[in-house]
Amino acid sequence: MALSFFTKNKKAILARCRDDYPTKMRLKYAPFYHAMEAQKGTTVRLDGKDMIMLSSNDYLGLSFHPKILESARAAMNKWGTSTNGARISNGSRKFHLELEEKLADFLGREACHVHAAGYLSCMSAVATFGQKGDIIFADKNIHSCLWDGIRLSNASYERFSHNNPDDLREVIAASNPDAPKILVIEGVYSMEGHIARLPELAEIAEESSCFTVLDDAHGFGVLGRQGRGTIDSFGLNDKVDVMCGSMSKSLASIGGFVASSREVIEYLRTHSKQTTFSAALSPAQAGAAMAALDVMQTEPQHLERLWANTRKYKAMLKNLGLDTWDSETPAVPIVLGSKERVYLFWRALMDRGVFTVMSIAPAVPVGKDLIRTAISAMHTDEQLERIAEAMAYAIKKL
Ligand SMILES: Cc1ncc(COP(=O)(O)O)c(C=O)c1O
Repeated sequence: MALSFFTKNKKAILARCRDDYPTKMRLKYAPFYHAMEAQKGTTVRLDGKDMIMLSSNDYLGLSFHPKILESARAAMNKWGTSTNGARISNGSRKFHLELEEKLADFLGREACHVHAAGYLSCMSAVATFGQKGDIIFADKNIHSCLWDGIRLSNASYERFSHNNPDDLREVIAASNPDAPKILVIEGVYSMEGHIARLPELAEIAEESSCFTVLDDAHGFGVLGRQGRGTIDSFGLNDKVDVMCGSMSKSLASIGGFVASSREVIEYLRTHSKQTTFSAALSPAQAGAAMAALDVMQTEPQHLERLWANTRKYKAMLKNLGLDTWDSETPAVPIVLGSKERVYLFWRALMDRGVFTVMSIAPAVPVGKDLIRTAISAMHTDEQLERIAEAMAYAIKKL
């Protein structure tokens, strides 16, 4: 009977959810989705205990900055809590255009488009420009939103070894020379903290006539003049076609952006499904991002403090003999090599009041199971000392 056939199929899907091993393990060990009771800067309260937040991406420590709080409040008071729809149907608001102009200006680009999530921006920065018949060359360690963009584009794709220009050259050489090509990389790799070898990669892209997309979610605010990002730090703005990124990290907001030439951004506004069919960035999010952008340009102390903290933290980890995968930035992994070791280390840090996140294979390459940490300009010297003590304790638990 048709009814029982459908019932059976539905049962299979429900059983898949009920019996899923990774979900069972997640619920058993509960390493994720903790519900904090309060937060003030880099201090969070969990189960009644104050803990140092060491896995947030608030690099510049601006998420409690008075000017940014005030700007978010003012935008919400003026425009309400939501735009309640996509810009193509409900229209843009002045604050969208103002933020886009400010961002484009800061990044030395003609135009910019902002979305309600960095994930949407970066996915659309790939999905929109690739199509069937194109070949996308992707660093094998790029973020999941870029992989989603690649899949949605219908282009074929080739991976090259992480941050390895020689391998990229070989992979391109073995591909169809007549196909339109797109290179997809990150500026700073979020798990590893590696900076893209952009001068060599961009040179290869130029020789092979690749359209280049760079996701700088973790380089924006951290590298370059006043935090303009990885491309700016190498002075290569004219070599990268599209820069995309997130506003949920250094910009202390939520949302993302795609920046490029005017014609590329207008094409995105016509063809990107993530742009045309998703609701616009909210007033408060835009207000926060706009003020954070001003703070980045007028208060250099945050960027200076971020790097001073990063140097101190890295020296401390080195002293303890921990493997940081040669991270070059405030995104610092602690590689422990197996999920068991990662769990013991993470648990010990939790016991000592330091909140971090585990990242285990397949999210990272096998043998690179790690604790992902990130330094903020807001971490105090006292917190860094407490982190050092907690790490020393965690090492003993391995
Ligand atoms: C490299 C990279 N791109 C894009 C994103 C997505 O940004 P968001 O979390 O703001 O949506 C992230 C988030 O972790 C990221 O690490």
